[in-house]
Amino acid sequence: MKSFVFHNPTKIIFGKETEKKVGSEVKKYADKILLHYGGGSIKKYGIYKRVMDSLHREKIRVIELPGVKPNPVLGMVNQGIDICRKEGIKFILSVGGGSAIDSGKAIALGVPYKGDVWDILRGEKKPAGALPTGAVLTIPAAGSESSDVTVITNEKELIKKGYHHSLIRPRFAVLNPEFTFTLPKFQTAAGAADIIAHVLERYITHTKNVDLTDRLCESTMKTVIKNAPVVIKDPGHYPARAEIMWASTLAHNGILGTGREEDWGTHKIGHELSALYDITHGASLAIAFPAWMKYVYRKNIPLFAQFASRVFNLGTDYFNLEKTALEGIESLIGFFRSIGLPTRLKEAGIPDDRFEEMADKLVATGPKGSFYKLHAEDVVNILKIAR
Ligand code: NZQ
Ligand code: ZN
Repeated sequence: MKSFVFHNPTKIIFGKETEKKVGSEVKKYADKILLHYGGGSIKKYGIYKRVMDSLHREKIRVIELPGVKPNPVLGMVNQGIDICRKEGIKFILSVGGGSAIDSGKAIALGVPYKGDVWDILRGEKKPAGALPTGAVLTIPAAGSESSDVTVITNEKELIKKGYHHSLIRPRFAVLNPEFTFTLPKFQTAAGAADIIAHVLERYITHTKNVDLTDRLCESTMKTVIKNAPVVIKDPGHYPARAEIMWASTLAHNGILGTGREEDWGTHKIGHELSALYDITHGASLAIAFPAWMKYVYRKNIPLFAQFASRVFNLGTDYFNLEKTALEGIESLIGFFRSIGLPTRLKEAGIPDDRFEEMADKLVATGPKGSFYKLHAEDVVNILKIAR
């Protein structure tokens, strides 16, 4: 196990009717806030009203910025920065999923910064601070509710990029699993794939003697594999929705990566696909992860065999661990397909004529990933496997 510091101060408020606590949590930071959300699902399904009731009870003034789209864009971030400056706003509450939360985090970075916020987001300039943010989560997937990451697309340059900083971890996150009953099947499934991908980015490692986090990773993945089909069949199944919602946070709050070298190459491939084709993040990973695994598994066959045996309960062929390893990858593909996700680029309508372009963009600042260092030709090879 490697040495590490683990510090995740996001307060998690989990369970039925927890949105009633939003007002009192926000009140600790500000009397006037930016309420940031997506394309309208929160209004359609009554979440907006329940959050507003709680804010009004605490007499909090609310300026709204709706319209965040999945794969959130820089234009919206700049709009939010302008509003916050003009209105003297000191706190941002995002209600939604990774897109609304990430957009809120990027606005939070941009308000105190004098220059172009994209310079921070692309890693060229240091932040000058950040407004505090909070989240009411409506889709378990990205883990943004307690991560130190924001992922924004520069829609003019077609670049989708993740930016890490402890300043942007939300102060609190409200997780009411009932809010996820209304998710379309595809979003539920894409969320499940993203959660599993967040675990795999940490699980597939060369770090030795990480028994505890191996087991934590495996149980998180098993929980999603067990409960995702339940909620796809029965969207209002509270116990299963609750398991998935907590798994989404644990998968990406940092704990599963403690003491381990993490990879993250596959996420970067997913971001390239989303930047060019606007594919849903989780779906991009259901395609990219199995392809990446097929390309890299020989670097640590025993770990891939362990994944097959412990996560999918497959028998281990001790005379042919490679066979077990490959069966594990096929089981993961089978799981993604069973919940209605594409596992091939062509199933998502993505052609094979821009692989080099994506690969060059991905490695523009050097090779990516640590379990397997991806150079441009590796990215092209993985995309070819994913065709
Ligand atoms: O926009 P609305 O109308 O709200 O609809 C949304 C959106 O269309 C809908 N939805 C959300 N909650 C719903 C609902 N529909 C019905 N009922 C509900 N309760 O779902 C759609 C997807 O929402 P979005 O926020 O885009 O989903 P997700 O949470 O998967 O976020 C994806 C974004 O997060 C980034 C991804 O790259 C992507 O841009 N990520 C952020 C990370 C982070 N900050 O730590 C890490 C991840 O790896 C990921 O990269
Ligand atoms: Zn992700």
